[in-house]
Amino acid sequence: MANREVTCTVNGKQRTFLIDVRSSLSDMLRGNAGLDSIKHGCDVGECGACTVLIDGRPFNSCIYLAIWAEGKTILTLEGLSDVKGAISDIQQAFIDEGAVQCGICTPGFIMASIPIIEAEKPASREEIRRQIAGNLCRCTGYENIVTAIEKTQKKRIAEKQGR
Ligand code: FES
Ligand code: FES
Repeated sequence: MANREVTCTVNGKQRTFLIDVRSSLSDMLRGNAGLDSIKHGCDVGECGACTVLIDGRPFNSCIYLAIWAEGKTILTLEGLSDVKGAISDIQQAFIDEGAVQCGICTPGFIMASIPIIEAEKPASREEIRRQIAGNLCRCTGYENIVTAIEKTQKKRIAEKQGR
């Protein structure tokens, strides 16, 4: 089967990968780029464990062909840390709220939450639940996950308002 080069921006750096044209974006990011936060859960777009941001929007990378990433901007969990490697506020909130157990679902939940915590307007718990509905967790239960997202969102809005 044919190989092709794909050039895209991954976590702020332009990268070129030589990939089998049948590869999924999750295969490229985990296999070629070595980004272990990308989890292979169901591999059919049902669980959200492989969620990354593509041009700012969450996608299940297991059902997104790697060749479609040409020219796109990809953000994964690894891209949330600061230059010194310190984890982001949303990652810390997941720890603080006990929203992590086995951790398989966690990177996907965190990436799905980025548009929520970066929004100008606060989302209700109901709205948060709706926006993360494509992500499944088998161990933690969703209350703590929603609380972690809600707290980070409120913190970010307060920071923007200088409070
Ligand atoms: S591994 Fe991609 S949605 Fe489940
Ligand atoms: S923490 Fe185990 S699946 Fe969510």
